[in-house]
Order: sequence, then C-alpha cells, then structure tokens
Amino acid sequence: MARRKLIAGNWKMNGLRTDSAALVSGLISRRAAESDFDAEMLVCPPFTLLDRVGQSLAGSPIALGAQDCHIEQTGAFTGDVSAAMIKDMGASYCIVGHSERRSGHHEANALIRAKADAALSVGLAAIVCVGESEPERRAGKACEVVCAQLSNSIPGGASPDTLVVAYEPIWAIGSGRIPTADEVVEIHSTLRRCLHGLLGGHASGVRILYGGSVKPSNAREFMLLPDVDGCLVGGASLSVDDFWAIALASQGLPA
Ligand code: 13P
Repeated sequence: MARRKLIAGNWKMNGLRTDSAALVSGLISRRAAESDFDAEMLVCPPFTLLDRVGQSLAGSPIALGAQDCHIEQTGAFTGDVSAAMIKDMGASYCIVGHSERRSGHHEANALIRAKADAALSVGLAAIVCVGESEPERRAGKACEVVCAQLSNSIPGGASPDTLVVAYEPIWAIGSGRIPTADEVVEIHSTLRRCLHGLLGGHASGVRILYGGSVKPSNAREFMLLPDVDGCLVGGASLSVDDFWAIALASQGLPA
C-alpha cells in the first residue's frame, strides 16, 4: 500500500505568539509556492499556541497537532488538556508517548495507550512514539524494547488513518547523533512486522516516522530508506528554512 510521507514538526516547549506567526506564515507561503510537493505537513505547537496556529493554518494544507493529551475528555484534572479540547482547536493529530513524557512524566505504556484511545475517540489520529535508550541499544535490546512499547501503547482499533508510529531513539534526540541507515532499517522493519502481528492487513498502510536530530543535511538519506514514511522533527522544525528544506528533501526536491 502506498503511504504518503508525513513531515511533522514537534515544537516542544518553544514558541511565543510573535515568533510562531512568522514561522507559520513562512511555511504556508513556501508550501503554496511548491506545486510539486506531495507530502503531508504537520506542526505540533505547545498548547498555548494551538488556537492561534490553528487559525493561521485554516484553509492551508498544513495540519495541526498537539504534543500530548489527557485520558479523560473533561473533569477535575488541573493543568491538563483533553483530546476533545485539542480537536476543538482544529487539530487532527496528537503525539502521545514521546520519550520526554515517558521519562520526564513517568508515563508508562498503559497510560500512553489510554491517551491514544482518548485521541481516537474524538477523531484525532495518534502519533505513538517509541524508542530505546542508549544502554538498551548497547545491550542489543533495541528491537525488543520498541516492539514491547508498540504492542502495549497503540490504541485499540487503530488503522492507517488513525495511527502513526514514530521511532525516536532517545540518544539521538537533540544530540546531533544519528543511527546508521542499517540501524534505522532494522528498527523500522521490526516495527512493521510487529504492526502486522497487531493489526493484520491494516499494518501495511500505517506510517512509521523517524525522529532524532533530523536536519536538512541528513533528511534525504533517512527518507530513502525502506519503511521510513516521514520524520518527526524537533529543533529543526523551529526554523522555516530548515523545516522546509527537510520537507523538500523528503520528496527528493532540491532546497
Ligand atoms: P530533535 O529533532 O531536536 O532531535 O528532536 C526530535 C524529537 O524529539 C521530535 O519529537
């Protein structure tokens, strides 16, 4: 099954109103000027900017996503944000299980699955992140770790329209270090096999993104690998030039 590439930007805890306006308008105008461009683009700003960025993106082909959600849709959960609220902002995606939440907020697979279920229940697609730590890789356990994370954190009834998987080796995030092509291929093909076991025929349509120190200089190399269906970009998604260059690279178009 043909899978349309997805180039997603995770802004993390970055962005104030003024700089986000320039970033979003820059992306919209570059995307509009590139008629040959066929990948899907997504930006995931912090909650504080969802409304504003969503309004700017309205009518453009660039999608809006959030970086996390609560497992409940309403209630007495001080400081939390529900999937229904995110959907209300015009979003279509929600990242769940990012390693910065798994480690910084002690989120385990069962909670991540509940968040993904909450996202799907209001019509958002879930981007479920998996990835091994450096000690796990050194111990030869990377495939085992990501498969266990995937099996235990994807939502029930997932399909290619409602699930995206992002492989983000923890040691590659924000470090400038990247896995070799062989390492990426090994993990992505393992994840695809694992998805087949979990979803049967649906598995071949689910996109598997690579994330971790993706830059304009290495994006093309990742994007040519089998079973790499796009990327989840952190730091480089905060620059119009860099994020757009990565998007172009995903299509084999010159920057
Ligand atoms: P960097 O691209 O900054 O390494 O971050 C990757 C990431 O965590 C995206 O979710």
